[in-house]
Amino acid sequence: RHLQFLGSPAKLHIEHADLQSLATQFGTPLYVYSGAEIRDAFQSYAQACKGLAEVTICYAVKANSNIHILKLLADEGAGFDIVSAGELARIIAAGASPAKAVFAGVGKTVEEITYALNQGVGCFNVESEQEMHRIAEVAEKLGKPAKVSLRVNPDVDAKTHPYISTGLKENKFGISMQLAPRVYAFANAHPFLQVHGIDCHIGSQLTDASPYFDALDRVLALLDQLATQGIHIHHLDLGGGIGIRYRDETPPKPADVLPKLIEKIRHWAAQSGRAMPSLSFEPGRSIVGNAGVLLTQVEFLKQNEDKNFAIVDAAMNDLMRPAMYEAFHGVTPLIIEQDKPSAVYDVVGPVCESGDWLARNRELAVAPGDVLAILSAGAYGQTMASNYNSRGRAAEILIDKGQVRLIRKRETIEDQLRCEQNL
Ligand code: LLP
Repeated sequence: RHLQFLGSPAKLHIEHADLQSLATQFGTPLYVYSGAEIRDAFQSYAQACKGLAEVTICYAVKANSNIHILKLLADEGAGFDIVSAGELARIIAAGASPAKAVFAGVGKTVEEITYALNQGVGCFNVESEQEMHRIAEVAEKLGKPAKVSLRVNPDVDAKTHPYISTGLKENKFGISMQLAPRVYAFANAHPFLQVHGIDCHIGSQLTDASPYFDALDRVLALLDQLATQGIHIHHLDLGGGIGIRYRDETPPKPADVLPKLIEKIRHWAAQSGRAMPSLSFEPGRSIVGNAGVLLTQVEFLKQNEDKNFAIVDAAMNDLMRPAMYEAFHGVTPLIIEQDKPSAVYDVVGPVCESGDWLARNRELAVAPGDVLAILSAGAYGQTMASNYNSRGRAAEILIDKGQVRLIRKRETIEDQLRCEQNL
């Protein structure tokens, strides 16, 4: 909504800021984000739950971990879903409280658990029995009790790309429903573990809400079973995963899904004579995905026998999603000029891989030197970037409250060499 063409010739803007001027001023490749879009997306979650239950929206840091974006979200009232010591350090650097963080991930190391306990992390979302034992040992050694939730695997099909589907039996995530009671019993009996809640996350880029309801049914059935064993759970974390529109998808809106999920939980609690549990959600992509674009300059137009290539200065190392998932991202020139000749191009980067493409078979009216915007690049863009081919990572800009702010400098070759020199 905050991305639009204005003027004549039509130039792409985020809020008041003309993206062509930003590309000229800061260079390309360049990520540009809209603060207003991020706030609106966050508020669509917060408002959807308002007055219905006690809910924390824990933004999934992996989607976009720039500390200025984390600060913006912390100021809106977000909690955080983190998966590494690095992500915890980022939310601390952003001034957010570790107590509002939930720590997920299948391979937490002793060092990470120690750091998280020392910082006062809110809760561990525990993904295996072995991890539960490890957390207990570290907590006991430090003399600091750990709050734990079990991430259960509800074995539902999220009907999304297999690489981002996480709630099936064959996925590495979570603890099976069968094993969960035993792990809860262990945690319940351990003096340095405090059972906090239950967690499930079934996948990402979901465009159909029904898997959430299937997963919730299974989680509630498990809570009933646990109650018969004297284990009472007072917090439910239902994960993230609501999709965004990249092309023509019509993902559900938080306002369509969250109140219905909450209603179902309320009904269950009333029927079984329990207090309404507190809740959390862990959205990532739907908060930042459509708030960001990647600007890239066309270096050459090249014709092979049956293909036209627009060779641009961004590559798979900047935006991995097309190479990794064959993901679709919209592409548009920043300036729409009438009568400019168009052709069908593959938009490709300079990296030495055939998989290095950003878009395929797009009709574009472009010339060398023009700048393109790769759309919907705010989530899993910069966070998945690498230095492949010794390319420095892109700079990042945040447009917020009438201001254009550089929020990450372009990485230099000195930055890249630093870890390898003066050893
Ligand atoms: N919670 C947990 C435990 C997760 O594993 C994830 C994402 C989220 C929350 C946030 O999910 P979201 O709301 O963003 O869908 N790189 C892939 C996406 C990987 C998602 C991994 N987990 C992509 O670019 O499509």
